[in-house]
Amino acid sequence: MIGVGLLGLGTVGTGIVEILEDRKKELEELLGEPVVIRKILVLNKKKPRKLNTDRYVITTDFKDLINDKDIQIILEATGDQDRAYGYLKEALIGGKHVVSANKALVSKHLEELSLLAEEKGLAFLYEASVAGGIPVLKALKDQLRLNRINKIGGIVNGTCNFILTRMGDEGLDYSQALKEAQEIGYAELDPRDDVEGLDSLRKLRILASLALQTRVGEEDILLEGIEGISKLDLELANKLGRRFKLIATARRVGVGFEAQVMPSLLKKESQLSGVCGAYNMVELTGDKIGSLSFYGLGAGGLPTANAALSDLLDIAVGSYSSKSPLGQEALTNLGGKLEASFYLRINKYNCELEQAFKPIIEELLFSGTQLVVLTKKLPLKEIYYQLESQSISKNDYFLARLEA
Ligand code: NAP
Ligand code: HSE
Repeated sequence: MIGVGLLGLGTVGTGIVEILEDRKKELEELLGEPVVIRKILVLNKKKPRKLNTDRYVITTDFKDLINDKDIQIILEATGDQDRAYGYLKEALIGGKHVVSANKALVSKHLEELSLLAEEKGLAFLYEASVAGGIPVLKALKDQLRLNRINKIGGIVNGTCNFILTRMGDEGLDYSQALKEAQEIGYAELDPRDDVEGLDSLRKLRILASLALQTRVGEEDILLEGIEGISKLDLELANKLGRRFKLIATARRVGVGFEAQVMPSLLKKESQLSGVCGAYNMVELTGDKIGSLSFYGLGAGGLPTANAALSDLLDIAVGSYSSKSPLGQEALTNLGGKLEASFYLRINKYNCELEQAFKPIIEELLFSGTQLVVLTKKLPLKEIYYQLESQSISKNDYFLARLEA
């Protein structure tokens, strides 16, 4: 028996149970023994569940799982950052393999848990934590064996992409589109993590740390979200023959790197611009392989559960490495030097404001109640400087990078 302890029975946890039930016979044939969910940890035992839980042991006490000698693998899908971190650490110390879908936790403790797993000769796998169902981390680790990866990133948040698609293609309001994403189960418990770009930032930290083989911390990544986007932005984008997408990218620049999560105004004919709804696309560029793209559902119970269970199968058949996949390159963060043209909307307008911004304006798109411009090519920090000197706070502007 492959004994599993499942943490969390929400969107992803339920998907895990459903797939294991659906594929029970095939998995037993493949592995020569059954995969058995020995215990499930939740917060509230009395909560009504989407599936029949009669045949499962549900508990609110992690000791029930850690003390169960027949649990070899802990599958974590809680979204909790603090207690779940304690659980995963305890699991590794106690000799159990760990699989997690929790990017907030993985991003925060990536180095520590990777090293602990290596020390213990155990698996610490987190395919489901980046880009939902897309098996991008496995592909990345594979390419790293022969390539130096120079660039990685793309669309890694299903909720934001769903909102931008629903607003852009069907004219929905921002709040309606977000509500739909929450109802389907794409959004984080606190959806600000999605729309303010934090979720993408965490995924990029994981992707970039692996790809560039250096430590890319959360604090190294420039961050702008989509929470300020309005119908006016989408109308103007349409007139320009472009679409807004939230793009997370990291790239090697000489002996340094730059990493950012930022709304981008893409040409409609570009590949990323065609990624709609909860789909994600991750592109990587290696010095031998060239450019590779990975496309698929980036959120949702079954695709994410599928990714977590693929990690579980790697553990079950022994095709995993306990060696930490993180590298030791010493690259400097050059993020502050980002230069580009930008789309900038300021939520207020007067002639003095337009005059103040005039030196950086390439094209005036709208003026009246608000000021909307495309800027000249310039360092991002110059835009922040102008905004600050005009006392324009984060809630009063929307900023996107204009892609060439
Ligand atoms: P969810 O629907 O909110 O479910 C969370 C589950 O975890 C619930 O069953 C909850 O228990 C349980 N839980 C929360 N804190 C706990 C704690 N401290 N101890 C024990 N159980 C706890 O969340 P989800 O959408 O499944 O997401 C789970 C994780 O997967 C998150 O880290 C998320 O970022 C990640 N993820 C989600 C998706 C997606 O599309 N939803 C995709 C990729 C990755 P109760 O049911 O009793 O409240
Ligand atoms: N909230 C996340 C998203 C879940 O929308 O992409 C998948 O990681």
